[in-house]
Amino acid sequence: MGISYDSERQIFLINTEHTSYIMGLSNDYLGHIYYGKRVNVPCGRSMLRDSEMAYFSGNIGEKCTFADSYPFEYGTGGTGDFRESCIELTNVDGYTGCEFKYVSHRIYKGKDALAGLPHTFGSEDDTETLEIRLHDEVLGVKLYLSYSVFAGIDAICRSIRIVNDSEAAVEIRKLMSASFEMDAADCGRPMELISLHGSWARERSLDRRPMGHGGIVINSNRGISSHQDHPFIAVVSPDATETAGDVWAMNFVYSGNFEAVTDRTQHDRLRVMMGINHDTFDWTLRPGEEFTAPEVVTVYSAEGLGAMSRTFHDLYRGHLIRSKYLHMKRPILINNWEATYFNFDTEKLLSIARAAKESGIEMLVMDDGWFGHRSSDNSSLGDWQVNTEKLPGGLEYLVSEVNKIGLKFGIWFEPEMVSPDSELYRAHSDWAIAIPGREASQCRTQFVLDLTREEVRDYVYESIAAVLRSANIEYVKWDMNRPLTDIGSTKLKNQGELLHRYMLGVYEIQERMITEFPNLLLENCSSGGARLDPGMLYYSPQIWCSDDTDAMERLSIQEGTTLMYPLSAMGAHVSDCPNHIVGRTTDFATRGIVALSGTFGYELDITKISEADRGLIPKQVALYHRVNDLVREGDYYRLASGRDNGEFYCWSVVAKDKSEVLVSYVQQRGGANLRTRAVKLQGLDTEAEYILDRSMCDGFIDEKTGDAADKNSAAEESATEIYRGDELMYVGFITDKLWGDGKGRLYHFVRKG
Ligand code: GLA
Repeated sequence: MGISYDSERQIFLINTEHTSYIMGLSNDYLGHIYYGKRVNVPCGRSMLRDSEMAYFSGNIGEKCTFADSYPFEYGTGGTGDFRESCIELTNVDGYTGCEFKYVSHRIYKGKDALAGLPHTFGSEDDTETLEIRLHDEVLGVKLYLSYSVFAGIDAICRSIRIVNDSEAAVEIRKLMSASFEMDAADCGRPMELISLHGSWARERSLDRRPMGHGGIVINSNRGISSHQDHPFIAVVSPDATETAGDVWAMNFVYSGNFEAVTDRTQHDRLRVMMGINHDTFDWTLRPGEEFTAPEVVTVYSAEGLGAMSRTFHDLYRGHLIRSKYLHMKRPILINNWEATYFNFDTEKLLSIARAAKESGIEMLVMDDGWFGHRSSDNSSLGDWQVNTEKLPGGLEYLVSEVNKIGLKFGIWFEPEMVSPDSELYRAHSDWAIAIPGREASQCRTQFVLDLTREEVRDYVYESIAAVLRSANIEYVKWDMNRPLTDIGSTKLKNQGELLHRYMLGVYEIQERMITEFPNLLLENCSSGGARLDPGMLYYSPQIWCSDDTDAMERLSIQEGTTLMYPLSAMGAHVSDCPNHIVGRTTDFATRGIVALSGTFGYELDITKISEADRGLIPKQVALYHRVNDLVREGDYYRLASGRDNGEFYCWSVVAKDKSEVLVSYVQQRGGANLRTRAVKLQGLDTEAEYILDRSMCDGFIDEKTGDAADKNSAAEESATEIYRGDELMYVGFITDKLWGDGKGRLYHFVRKG
């Protein structure tokens, strides 16, 4: 890792362990030269392409010709660059157009915080930052482009700060956080775009398309990062697979509206950018003020999508997620949502807790319905006082009884909302986001609170904190169950600021909460996974992945989620069957195998499931304790995808020191007279011998021996098969033939010696 500036040739070189990012100056315009495999000596200035003819005019030096073809690092509109621009500013007289020229730069150890925003962080020992200062003389506005790199991680974290040094206000109508340019085709073969699309209960499905000429926009305008599109894109070479090919990826450290834009130009160049969605954004920057746009993480991988994912995982585990639980086994929880929905009371919860304790479960989470007079989703959001008819003796009694049983206690909130039928709304109807004179849209019979207002944020924080102070609550599920519409705040002069100020408000409240309650385990949620993004991971180490808890559906949802996010961040539970969302029945073992690749827990009425299934829970619990350190901390590999083969998924987690690997294999559909399936592993020590420990193959492990077992000796005792690392990687091993749909296997290979 290292950052340098060659002042003679005016070239910036940002190196990570395996990648280089190169920029140069031409006539003080900052241009993009290269992003790709590491080069140790910066390439020549010719790649700046500052002498190309772009227009019908043959005058190469003419400004319009230059502006239309120069690979601006941060393209500005209105002065001759007709490609998608990164920034749009309007001055007090209504003039648009801007032009930024290089002024200076600084290279420093460490990385500055982004005030009020989630951001990656690093120490002076492992992080280095380049900040380039640009200036528009006419507007009197400065731009600071920031690039940070981290030891051993092939990612660059970028952000933009804009400062108004003029005497008059400037309107920011667009401000992308990062952009770069590249050739749109690799020796004539057009690049392809990978993005993630979805819907409620169908989050993060992979979409791949060739990139023709013109623009492609992936965005959210719902006020949240959304189920529908995800703040992630990857431009890939046409030959890119899990293990090979070029990948240039971007992921936004932000939880509100975003846009990712690619623009393939007349000259087959590609401009790629990401930032706040400018359709729903407008910001007034007064004299002397500054504005910081959220951070974008860029990753280049020369070894396909798998390496890209592992880079994101390492970055987020090492430099984004702050919770003390990041490197700890999370308590195995049982959540009562699918068990009872709104229909519960203290006795019901305690009966679940008692049965859960007998099975080795460690925490009870009380979901929606414990407050106000909420017995359906039609009321009481905002009234965060316990319903003592349902819970006589209040939380204090319930939590102490749960603790006496030997379980921790967690609770659900939806702090950003207000129900029209609530004391809060009756007292402060103007606290809901709405456009004056227009009837605001209800969604799940609720409105969104105007968190741009300090008094609303204070109310929200104090009402949650009062609950948390009142009893021994060790976990919070923070939910958010509707998009933002009717964008209006009575207190704002510029309504275009609302959506971003709203996000800043959410971040501020979560920051206050984790500061006052540092031991709290926070899980974010948004109707399942509508706000599963790096922004929220800054505050919570785990996020509920999807309301679709069906194990078969979860295979593709979790696969899409792992493109960027580590398994330790994915909320996943074993739920009841037939599954409440899709009606499918899947083996209890398979449900466990899928949930074990996330945070793990249960979401069912343990007092009502069959004795046989209940008897299996202690074995799954033991298995979780055996494998979770590896699952949480290891390197993740997607080995086979049902999306491609229509039959089965296979993935693995390899210990950082390559001493063990857990392979999860799930057959979606059985079939007649099928060939045996060989699976090739990745990331092993090619010289070592690995023993296949079959003790957990069936998806369970004996609860008495599981936890305490010494991994090597347990493996050796039951050893029947020994493989060399290179054999497992290049030849593969044959998976068991499974009979039926939705069957799974776990294979644990332990390095010998
Ligand atoms: C959302 C969450 C669910 C559950 C319900 C409660 O849909 O994703 O897990 O908490 O809200 O209303």
